[in-house]
Amino acid sequence: PSYHLFLLPGDGIGPEVMAEVEKVIHAFESDGLATFEIEKGLVGGCAYDAHGAAISDADMARAEAADAVLLAAVGGPKWASVPYEVRPEAGLLRLRKDLGLYANLRPAVCYPALASASSLKPEVVEGLDIMIVRELTGGVYFGEPKEIVDLGNGQKRAIDTQVYDTYEIERIGRVAFDLARKRGNKVTSAEKHNVMKSGVLWKDVITALHKREYADVQLEHQLADALGMQLVRWPKQFDVIVTDNLFGDMLSDVAAMLTGSLGMLPSASLGDQNPKTGKRKAMYEPVHGSAPDIAGKGAANPIAMIASFGMALRYSFGAGAAADRLDAAIASVLADGFRTADIKSDGCTLVSTMAMGDAIVSA
Ligand code: NAI
Ligand code: MG
Repeated sequence: PSYHLFLLPGDGIGPEVMAEVEKVIHAFESDGLATFEIEKGLVGGCAYDAHGAAISDADMARAEAADAVLLAAVGGPKWASVPYEVRPEAGLLRLRKDLGLYANLRPAVCYPALASASSLKPEVVEGLDIMIVRELTGGVYFGEPKEIVDLGNGQKRAIDTQVYDTYEIERIGRVAFDLARKRGNKVTSAEKHNVMKSGVLWKDVITALHKREYADVQLEHQLADALGMQLVRWPKQFDVIVTDNLFGDMLSDVAAMLTGSLGMLPSASLGDQNPKTGKRKAMYEPVHGSAPDIAGKGAANPIAMIASFGMALRYSFGAGAAADRLDAAIASVLADGFRTADIKSDGCTLVSTMAMGDAIVSA
């Protein structure tokens, strides 16, 4: 099979970690497992420097045409004072919005070799493998009205509006149930139906969808605040967690810290499935940013970026076996004691970005 990938290395450590993914891609090709058609573009500060926009229309068109977009990271102090509409993050937001990427998948996996690097006790996180599915294009971050009103008596009123329609809850629910069937067959849905109307509708829609189409999957509901507590108390009770944009933003950051470093965490953002081709628009990116403090030093951990490519193999290309192989290679390199600076510990071998990429390729 041949897959069409659009690479957006971006700024800071972005190009450094993307170079390691390219090594991995070439390794898959030279093993005869797949061929990749690769295009590259600009996003973020580098795009602003080149043509005054955080992403050009031509690169947006390339992103639309690709089977999957791989993005590394954008931003940095150099662009701190560029106009708001063309700031580096605007490139990310345009990609998410124009590609309709409403489902954000954030796995939290704790590699056995790193269990002691977590902020929790090793026995609480060892073998952890959970998936947070966050709704990404609706809810309080986008709902109208959204404004600050001057009340005229020295007082102002800030208004954000949480809005969810049935179809938005159903489609994110489907993503979560479909994922659960390929994993531990359990979904935990989080909302606050005790104090929010959107929580009432969320719970009703997920319950009905489950009954209608996914009765074979175990479904549990938790209040979002209680779930936050359970995440740090006993995270291994979870398989797939599905929740709205705001709660998902917070809970996925909490889950991230269960696993050690920011340099280890991949993500995927998925859009609707094309009924004719079965393909989805998709973008894969590490959770971390452009890390200007370590950029250009060969010190960045490329694992988050490489694992993001692994998610592309799994979710865009249906190449689960290849993704498993890549995950196993990452685990074995860690078990062999190779560490970039962000995850270093006593008795381990400190390696550069490039040496980590090479080790994963040879594993
Ligand atoms: P950051 O994620 O870039 O860095 C936070 C800390 O983690 C730094 O100490 C950094 O050195 C370390 N770190 C991050 N990734 C690492 C890796 N792969 N290996 C080793 N260490 C790593 O977040 P920060 O510092 O808040 O933001 C820096 C810039 O990145 C800002 O301009 C921000 O706007 C942008 N940013 C971009 C994101 C994106 O492109 N999706 C997400 C977050 C921030
Ligand atoms: Mg966040």
